[in-house]
Amino acid sequence: MGFATDAIHVGQEPDPATGAIVPPIYQTSTYVQEALGKNKGFDYARTAHPNRRALERCVAKLEGGLTAYVFASGMAGIDAVLRLLRPGDHVIVSQAVYGGVFRLTTQLLVHFGLEFDYVDTSNLAAVQKALKPNNKMFYVETPTNPTMIITDIAAVAKLARERNITLVVDNTFLSPYLQQPIALGAHIVVHSMTKYLNGHSDCTGGAVILTRQEDADRIYFLQRSAGSGLSPMDCWLVARGIKTLAVRMQQHDKNGMTIAKFLEGQPKVKRVLYPGLASHPQHEIAKKQQRGFGAMLSFDLGSIDAARALLNNVHLCSLAESLGGVETLISHPAMMTHASVPPDVRKQIGITDGLVRISVGIEDAEDLIADLSHALSKV
Ligand SMILES: Cc1ncc(COP(=O)(O)O)c(C=O)c1O
Repeated sequence: MGFATDAIHVGQEPDPATGAIVPPIYQTSTYVQEALGKNKGFDYARTAHPNRRALERCVAKLEGGLTAYVFASGMAGIDAVLRLLRPGDHVIVSQAVYGGVFRLTTQLLVHFGLEFDYVDTSNLAAVQKALKPNNKMFYVETPTNPTMIITDIAAVAKLARERNITLVVDNTFLSPYLQQPIALGAHIVVHSMTKYLNGHSDCTGGAVILTRQEDADRIYFLQRSAGSGLSPMDCWLVARGIKTLAVRMQQHDKNGMTIAKFLEGQPKVKRVLYPGLASHPQHEIAKKQQRGFGAMLSFDLGSIDAARALLNNVHLCSLAESLGGVETLISHPAMMTHASVPPDVRKQIGITDGLVRISVGIEDAEDLIADLSHALSKV
């Protein structure tokens, strides 16, 4: 079946007990056992529940994986993936990775004997140079948040497979509709489902999609041992959101390009970071490995004062953390999503004080342009 059909039907079969077209929310913590050692496939909601299983089937199918596990947040899923490693293992992480991953690795997981190097993974020579004998994982975010740097997934996958290294790709910014890392050679895909998969900004969630049974067994063990699985209600919300993923992404993609072109034409905007523009340094790679360019973009206004003037004068665009919802969100990475990244590192990876990030929603593009034009006039 096609992507949109799978998004609507996999894991969304009508309820066999009643015929309800929408699967019910199994809001229960425990399941009564028929006899000692005999149950209907579920015993306790931390371990598994029908809404989680259904969503996991759908997400695994959309990403082309063997299986998937869904978590209470993107970070809970990413934490589980990094705990596939053992003390003494080395990981190469995309340099401009999401601030939460930077915080998790530099402030928590290093204390458990893991070693991390933050490398520009868009530069294959830099990745090769950073390799160490104890390297076990490449953790790649593409495009990166918020600098929109693109890594050539197939090229990194080739290197990973030659060296028996696990390649993990964070596909949050594009969703499986616009990019399929497993088809390009990734072993594991992670998502903050809080973003495009849910699409309506009404719960947090994470997904880990696996291609190897041994990784899947370990991730499930971690999920049920740590109790980090997604709740029935939140699984149901994400599953509902996923039904419209294909149409939402088509509209996000159109609006993203429209807003990027508009901003590129504004004299007060110093540069626009959007992989769909020919001016983007990895435009050709994005064209090769993505089905579209999505709706995340950043632009530089040159100073914190200019960024503040814009952010304090938008009305339709909401000043908020997060991304990927139907409504347009605008943010200041240095003071918001990436505040936990030290200023010198922010500078090194291009998160300037004048940088503004937009998650372009699916409103009418002309209304967004009117709002941004008004705010730019105050800069
Ligand atoms: C690219 C990316 N990965 C992971 C995460 C973490 O996801 P969550 O906030 O659902 O824990 C985020 C959050 O913004 C993100 O932008």
